[in-house]
Parts: sequence; structure tokens; C-alpha cells
Amino acid sequence: MKAARALLPWFRDVARDLPWRRTLDPYAIWVSEIMLQQTQVKTVIPYYERWMSRFPTAATLAGAHVDEVLKCWEGLGYYSRARNLLAAAQEITARHGGLFPRDMDQILDLPGIGRYTAGAISSIGFNEPRPILDGNVARVLARVHAIGADLKSREAQALLWREAQKWVSAASALPPQHSRELSGNCSALNQAIMELGATLCGPKDPQCAECPLTTLCRARQLDAQLQYPRPPKRVSAIHRSVYAFVVESGARVWIGQRQGGGANAGLWELPTVEVAPGSRPSAEEVFRQWSRVENARVRPLTRVKHSITRHRFETSAFHVRLSPNARRRIESRSPGLGWEKALWTDREQRAGRPFSAAHARIIAFWEAPAGA
Ligand code: ADE
Repeated sequence: MKAARALLPWFRDVARDLPWRRTLDPYAIWVSEIMLQQTQVKTVIPYYERWMSRFPTAATLAGAHVDEVLKCWEGLGYYSRARNLLAAAQEITARHGGLFPRDMDQILDLPGIGRYTAGAISSIGFNEPRPILDGNVARVLARVHAIGADLKSREAQALLWREAQKWVSAASALPPQHSRELSGNCSALNQAIMELGATLCGPKDPQCAECPLTTLCRARQLDAQLQYPRPPKRVSAIHRSVYAFVVESGARVWIGQRQGGGANAGLWELPTVEVAPGSRPSAEEVFRQWSRVENARVRPLTRVKHSITRHRFETSAFHVRLSPNARRRIESRSPGLGWEKALWTDREQRAGRPFSAAHARIIAFWEAPAGA
């Protein structure tokens, strides 16, 4: 198969030197693949390095407290990924003696591991001929084979997985062509398609002149690279506005931990009230209605934007100074916020706790000398 023959030497020459490419440890590869879901390589690198020095093995991760795990993930988003890493590490310790399983069904049984991640760990960590399919791989395959169907459709997905399987099987049948750092042809082939999709074969401006597959690519032969894959149906954004309050009383700030289940479960946050999008009601009034506290001193701090899936949040942050006798009011209003527990905290108590990204930024803004 020509594609595999062309991709392997190309990848050997151009592969970026990424920290998870210097190891064959399936635990490390698993961590990197989970972080790389929905997150760019350059964002992941410092998180990956911090995580691996803090939790170098599945056993160290399995013994960690969930707050410490979430703290290490703070800012990466989609926190169920971190909670699943912890749950899976505990399973690996309990059921597999602390060693990452090699068997595909056992890998797929672990929490948070689907077909893509299992294929990535199996091929990159164990050099098994298992396919992977993510957005980058799908785009490359759609162009090379000129697949015009909606890539989300069941038929297109089945076709893409079959093609991905053919490519990696073909690579495994070739003589080893890897450089010292890479584990073998299956690992290299899968990472090569991802790399091609991330570099030369991007969505907007494919660099066909430099592409190792240029003579094989059907979309290129049709001079229709940008028509493949078909653009996905646009999902419309949902705009949401919230007010968050840094409520301070006696040098302590009131924070709460979100209940399990919903978005940001287990993370800490400030009291937050949703308002009609774009309406900008008075913060004094919103705070008074929520807290039932009259005449609190409310001043604006900052505004941060944050997206979760199709929700575009604009969070306006305010500082509120409370008299000590108003504390009980705030405490009694907090169960309505969907919190499991809540605390009056000093700076040190906040520093060790994981916050949602938007609230971590607000607190950092307020704690910084200029905002104090
Ligand atoms: N994205 C997902 N997996 C990756 C990998 N192994 N290298 C680079 N980017 C990736």
C-alpha cells in the first residue's frame, strides 16, 4: 500500500519532538492522548510534564486524592477526563497489578477510554496494528479517498475506520522503518496521519506541494482539496451571561464545590447567578436578590469569556464586602447554587483547591496586587 510506504519515511524525517514521543510507557501515552483530546499540543505540553512528574505511574495516580488530580488538570477543561484517569488508574491497580493492560478489550473496559484512545494506546504504546480516527485522521482519509459523505454519518464512520485499519495493517507488514525514538511502524503510521492532518493537511490551506501523499490523493487529482471533507453542519452557539461574586467578609472569601454529575462537578467556584444574555442588570440588584442582603458594597472587577461545548459564557465578576453579621445570610442561600459544600477561605485555602478556569482567572485577578 503506497500511502503507508510514503508516510513512514516522511514521519521519520519530520516528526515533532514531543515529550510523549520519547517514551513507550503505555501509561504516559494514555495520559497524553487523554490530554490531547480537544486540546492543542502546545497547551498540553506543560500540563503533561507537570502531571508525569507528579503522577509518574498508574499506581501513584491511583493513590492520589481527587482534589489534587483536579488541581493538576485546572485550566484544561472537560474535567471528567481527569476524573476518569483517576478511576481507570484505580482499576489498573486493583485488577491488573498496576500494569497497563495490553489486551484491547481490557483497555476498552477502562473508564473514559473509547475506540480512539484504545487504538492510540495499543498502536503507539504496544505497536499493535490498531486503527485510530480523530478529526485530523478523518480529514486526511477523506481527501486521499475523496469521501464526499458527511463524515459524522454512520456509513462514513464505518468506511473511515475500515480505511484507517487498512493503512495501519499495511504499515505493520512493511520492514521496520522507524528511528530510535519511535516504537515501530504501527505507532509511526498512526502518528504520521495525525501529524499530516495537524501540519500540512489542515482544514483551510493544505500544503499539497510538500505532502508525501500528493500523488495518491484523489481530492488533489480532482483539484478539489477544499471540498473534502464536506463542511460539518454548523451548530449555533448559545450565549450565556453570568455574574460571579467575590464575597469577602473579615478577609475570607465564600466559595463552594459543585455537586457531582453536571458540568464542572467537583470543582470549586464563586457564587454565581445567571442573568439574561446581554442584559447587564445592576450588580447590586442581582446580588441583593440572590443574597437578600441589603446595602452590600459591590464593585466591578473584571469580565472573562469562556466556552464549554456550544455554550459561550460571559462572566462578569464583582467584589462584595460584607459585614460579619451578613455572613449567615450568604451561607443559608448557598444550597441553591448546586454546591456540595462551601467554606469561608483565606488565600492559602483557595490555592490548594481546583477551580473552574473562569473562576480561577477571576480570583487571580482579584488577588493580584493591582486588583486588591
Ligand atoms: N494528537 C493526538 N495524539 C497525538 C500525538 N500522539 N501526537 C501529536 N498530536 C496528537
